[in-house]
Amino acid sequence: MIRSVVRGIGSALPPRIMKNTDFEGVVETSDEWIVQRTGIRQRHIAGSGETTASLGEAAARAALQSAGLDAGDIDLIVLATSTPNHTFPATAVEIQQRLGLRSGFAFDLQAVCSGFVYALNTADLYLRGGAARRALVIGAETFSRILDWSDRSTCVLFGDGAGALVIEAVEGKGSIADRGLLAASLRSDGCHMEKLYVDGGPSTTGTVGHLRMEGREVFKHAVGMITDVVEAVFADAGISAKDLDWFVPHQANKRIIDASAKKLGIAEKKVVTTVDLHGNTSAASVPLALSVAVADGRIRQGDLVLLEAMGGGFTWGALLLRW
Ligand code: ACO
Repeated sequence: MIRSVVRGIGSALPPRIMKNTDFEGVVETSDEWIVQRTGIRQRHIAGSGETTASLGEAAARAALQSAGLDAGDIDLIVLATSTPNHTFPATAVEIQQRLGLRSGFAFDLQAVCSGFVYALNTADLYLRGGAARRALVIGAETFSRILDWSDRSTCVLFGDGAGALVIEAVEGKGSIADRGLLAASLRSDGCHMEKLYVDGGPSTTGTVGHLRMEGREVFKHAVGMITDVVEAVFADAGISAKDLDWFVPHQANKRIIDASAKKLGIAEKKVVTTVDLHGNTSAASVPLALSVAVADGRIRQGDLVLLEAMGGGFTWGALLLRW
């Protein structure tokens, strides 16, 4: 049985850091409010010339280096983003060009904050179906460009960045002991669209638009939706929370992360939290958190890792893999 095994990981963050106190004078808020409601202390903000494509390219190059591979070894690029460089072509194709790659195929995938979980699941299906052998799966965002900087209820929450994995098709035994992606559960429900959306687009206003969110409404649904897909993955893989080594959730809000882990019975010491450092980077948040936990030596080869995300749409999903 083919398994999609992680071979490399990389990340990229804009050098400019915006601390909570830097919002003073921008909107009426405080470091105390932001930390207490969200756990966020700072976020990285793209400078002029930094784009989703440039951040995605940098993360992809770092992932290739950690895999010991060249761009030419890749035959599929899936980029999860809601902030593409252009309406078209896909930013994945621009990254392909920046990497000097003229073979294989590349496309963008749009599932907002769940984008990376959707993209990893999609790439896994291509690898297992034999259509590709090695894939770059990238989550890259420049949400700072779609924020309404006069809306304190949203502008303090988001940041920019990118993370990437190289995955490779490897023959496994078909057991839970295999390395690679082991189980996934994805969901969406468009009836929640107006709770979290961007108020522009090519086919409606002809403009890019700004992010709008009913934060309290999103919060109300988040924990239930996250725990539902995680429990589906546990049932599919025949495991329980105690079998996990690491829980790497989407980094939107520390209170949502803590409540989800508690409801699932996942010990606090197994939860990877980076929302304090990066804010909510949407599709980049899960690979950025993975990068931090791999770089500091927490996640090691053979560890059982659970990923989850929930975001606009609503979309939500969970994925289990052995590192
Ligand atoms: N500073 C100070 N006060 C603020 C700020 C701010 N930055 N923002 C809002 N407030 C005020 C509000 O105006 C409100 O004041 P009022 O009571 O006088 O009306 C008060 O704080 C409480 O506002 P709530 O929205 O009820 O605050 P809440 O505790 O719900 O926290 C938050 C808001 C952090 C947005 C929370 O609801 C949340 O995290 N929601 C989920 C967001 C999320 O998970 N998104 C994930 C998906 S993201 C994606 O897919 C792109």
